[in-house]
Amino acid sequence: MAKLLVSSTLLLLLLLLPLLALCAEKQVYIVYFGEHSGEKTLHEIEETHHSYLFSVKNTQEEARASLLYSYKHSINGFAALLSPDEAQRLSEKEEVVSVWPSHPRKYTIHTTRSWEFVGLEEGEKHPNHYKIGGDLLSKARYGQQVIVGVLDSGVWPESRSFSDEGMGPIPKSWKGICQSGPGFNSSHCNRKLIGARYYIKGYEQHYGPLNASEDNRSCRDTDGHGTHTASTVGGRSVPNASAIGGFARGTASGGAPLVHLAIYKVCWPVPGHSKADGNTCFEEDMFAAIDDAIADGVNVLSISIGTSSPVNYTDDGIAIGALHAVKKNIVVACSAGNSGPAPSTLSNPAPWIITVGASSVDREFLAPVVLGNGKKIEGQTVTPSKLERRMYPLAYAADVVKGNVSKDMAGQCLPGSLSSEKVKGKIVLCMRGTGTRVGKGLEVKRAGGVGFILGNSPANGAEIACDPHLLPATAVVYNDAIRILEYINSTKNPIATIIPGRTVLHTKPAPFMAAFTSRGPNVIDPNILKPDITAPGLNILAAWTGMDSPTRFSEDHRVVEYNIFSGTSMSCPHVSAAAALLKAIHPTWSSAAIRSALMTTAGLINNIGLPLNDESGNVATPFAYGSGHFRPIKAADPGLVYNASYTDYLLYFCSIGVKKINPTFKCPTATPTSIDLNYPSLAVSKLNGTVIIKRTVTNVGSGRSIYFFSSKPPVGISVKAYPSILFFDHVGQKKSFTITVKARREILRKHHEKDEYVFGWYTWTDGLHNVRSPMAVSLA
Ligand SMILES: *[C@@H]1O[C@H](CO)[C@@H](O)[C@H](O)[C@H]1NC(C)=O
Ligand SMILES: *[C@@H]1O[C@H](CO)[C@@H](O)[C@H](O)[C@H]1NC(C)=O
Ligand SMILES: *[C@@H]1O[C@H](CO)[C@@H](O)[C@H](O)[C@H]1NC(C)=O
Ligand SMILES: *[C@@H]1O[C@H](CO)[C@@H](O)[C@H](O)[C@H]1NC(C)=O
Ligand SMILES: *[C@@H]1O[C@H](CO)[C@@H](O)[C@H](O)[C@H]1NC(C)=O
Ligand SMILES: *[C@@H]1O[C@H](CO)[C@@H](O)[C@H](O)[C@H]1NC(C)=O
Ligand SMILES: *[C@@H]1O[C@H](CO)[C@@H](O)[C@H](O)[C@H]1NC(C)=O
Ligand SMILES: *[C@@H]1O[C@H](CO)[C@@H](O)[C@H](O)[C@H]1NC(C)=O
Ligand SMILES: *[C@@H]1O[C@H](CO)[C@@H](O)[C@H](O)[C@H]1NC(C)=O
Repeated sequence: MAKLLVSSTLLLLLLLLPLLALCAEKQVYIVYFGEHSGEKTLHEIEETHHSYLFSVKNTQEEARASLLYSYKHSINGFAALLSPDEAQRLSEKEEVVSVWPSHPRKYTIHTTRSWEFVGLEEGEKHPNHYKIGGDLLSKARYGQQVIVGVLDSGVWPESRSFSDEGMGPIPKSWKGICQSGPGFNSSHCNRKLIGARYYIKGYEQHYGPLNASEDNRSCRDTDGHGTHTASTVGGRSVPNASAIGGFARGTASGGAPLVHLAIYKVCWPVPGHSKADGNTCFEEDMFAAIDDAIADGVNVLSISIGTSSPVNYTDDGIAIGALHAVKKNIVVACSAGNSGPAPSTLSNPAPWIITVGASSVDREFLAPVVLGNGKKIEGQTVTPSKLERRMYPLAYAADVVKGNVSKDMAGQCLPGSLSSEKVKGKIVLCMRGTGTRVGKGLEVKRAGGVGFILGNSPANGAEIACDPHLLPATAVVYNDAIRILEYINSTKNPIATIIPGRTVLHTKPAPFMAAFTSRGPNVIDPNILKPDITAPGLNILAAWTGMDSPTRFSEDHRVVEYNIFSGTSMSCPHVSAAAALLKAIHPTWSSAAIRSALMTTAGLINNIGLPLNDESGNVATPFAYGSGHFRPIKAADPGLVYNASYTDYLLYFCSIGVKKINPTFKCPTATPTSIDLNYPSLAVSKLNGTVIIKRTVTNVGSGRSIYFFSSKPPVGISVKAYPSILFFDHVGQKKSFTITVKARREILRKHHEKDEYVFGWYTWTDGLHNVRSPMAVSLA
């Protein structure tokens, strides 16, 4: 009997094995058809999607059970659980544009594990110190009647930043909803937070049902990231906002304080991981959110979510979703990513998206270290706990480890690595590299240390991301960490103290590029220069959730109203806010015109009158900052814009060899080249001889005007425009010109390697407006 049981189990197993294998292979694919023809009802669309699915499945039931989303508004497609073979069969169908397996995405915060805090200094000043003048704000009515959709982790509606007191009515065009769920119902929406929806099918397909003790199945933000980005775009002006420990106090405000916000929650915690590891966002969920946001009537979409490696446009849910949004004149801003400073690390490179890099602001939180030899070393912190004003023993982490820690990990203060015996009562110097900034502090605290100095690794350069550590602490740049090490080496009993932090404004030089900001060139299409622009992303203050500590470590039980984050996640909503203000001033402008206005007016000079640096003090390039640092006031009056229509983007697809993007559109027989897309910047890769590029500008300034061409060509390259003078006699008038880029090979060869990029710019100016385009050229 027993034997029989065994063999029949075996038999069953053998029978099941191929089935199991088949199941194991299944994953969520997105099947994309382009646009809707506009003749079908929502029900008919769903039935059509279902019939495609049924054509590769065995039964109607199986087809229905495998469908996650049917995208029915702007986007025509569906997400379903498929085997690779089923996906392949669908991709072969005539009407299908593309089929791709969904990729989960991450937020683009610098490190998901380290948030900081700060308050605001002067009441009048914008917290993040890019100056949006009162004049621009009042012209834009502070963003009133403009709707910004935010794809993120939800919102903390109780925050003072989302009060609707004194706000105008909800725009009549709004068609969205306020979706209820645990901890969030219709009473949480108001005239500030006008919409809330959440998307979780992709997440649950992958991870199983949401664990209710880890997050709420609603727009309630239990994470903090979504509250931070939403309030950076459109938080109200909140006086006397303050950080933990009574750090700087002042007025907190979003860039467009009267804008209406629509929240689309698409990011959820990874089960079994610490909150500090950050959430994950599934592509099929984001695709559904974008489809709804377009139908709901948002004007701007702010998406601080990226990939760690770039994806082709036709396999990129954010890119395709954004294309549909741009068709409806919605401006889409996305973060460039936090994988810098290495080249070719940029995400969200599609030319219809505004891709945003991150840079510093002119504010620091000085907390120097004083060494036993009397030397004072500058450091920064937003840590509320303070040391007494006396000297403490000082140690380098590598000298106080317990047991066997490998040499390269010895200075890193990884969890459990320090010896309590050797650390007790001391200040410990730990280096960045592996592990998290806040986690290193916690390890020093666990081992009984009294204070903690965090030393940058060489790659971090001058960038100091400040944290509200759980013990007295400060952070120093790499060279200063070495000076502290030299002091430790020089004496038998090294001692030091850390002076409590204070906020200092107008620090110089600022801005500089954050080390973490992802860099070009654009690996998907090197003929499109990316990122487009940079904005503040280092140590940015904004609203926070009440359900998560500022560091998001489980050891941290503090609750805060405002918190500091670093990342391109923080810079993206700055640009979204600026786009919302421009939208309010120029409601008929296309998203390309708004992007052009932001890009051609961006600044290249820091507050000491020198070119923007990167974190190492070298001059940064357009692969870090794009066109430069955003200047919203100037962008309101750009003079000329490089416009582009939806059709231009379809032609662009033809130029990169994607013949099928819209079933009703046929590529012309003469294939256009992607370099001719009417973009406000210029990238030429592998230049061999001469290339002639077409551009068209539209006059949006004063009626009669004359614009003159000038350029600062890259070394070894000549740049000429034809014509080099443009005459305009009315607003809306378009003028085309060509730019001839020629390699002066002899000079280039002398100075540059093959494939190395050289940079320059060209400008059209009428004496009032400077319409500048950066350029990047590499030689074949
Ligand atoms: C919404 O939830 C709040 C509690 O958070 C409750 O007081 C209120 O009655 C609820 N409103 C509705 C319409 O369910
Ligand atoms: C849900 O999360 C809690 C807290 O993280 C954990 O203790 C519990 O085991 C989880 N439940 C399941 C079913 O995973
Ligand atoms: C909301 O989520 C938190 C964890 O983030 C959990 O503790 C709480 O019980 C949840 N509330 C509901 C109503 O699900
Ligand atoms: C600001 O808030 C603090 C408490 O957080 C309070 O002590 C202080 O009086 C307030 N200042 C003003 C000007 O309201
Ligand atoms: C992008 O598409 C090209 C051409 O179809 C292909 O060769 C390449 O591998 C794709 N890249 C990625 C990252 O999927
Ligand atoms: C320490 O670990 C390294 C490799 O991890 C090993 O080669 C070495 O023998 C160990 N030393 C001691 C003293 O355990
Ligand atoms: C400190 O001394 C150790 C060995 O005694 C040496 O390896 C290290 O390079 C020294 N560090 C500095 C910064 O002088
Ligand atoms: C740009 O092009 C779009 C679409 O072709 C058009 O609606 C718009 O008026 C043009 N001009 C500006 C300044 O946006
Ligand atoms: C550049 O173009 C010339 C003439 O078309 C060709 O002979 C040469 O091989 C090209 N060089 C490179 C590096 O592509």
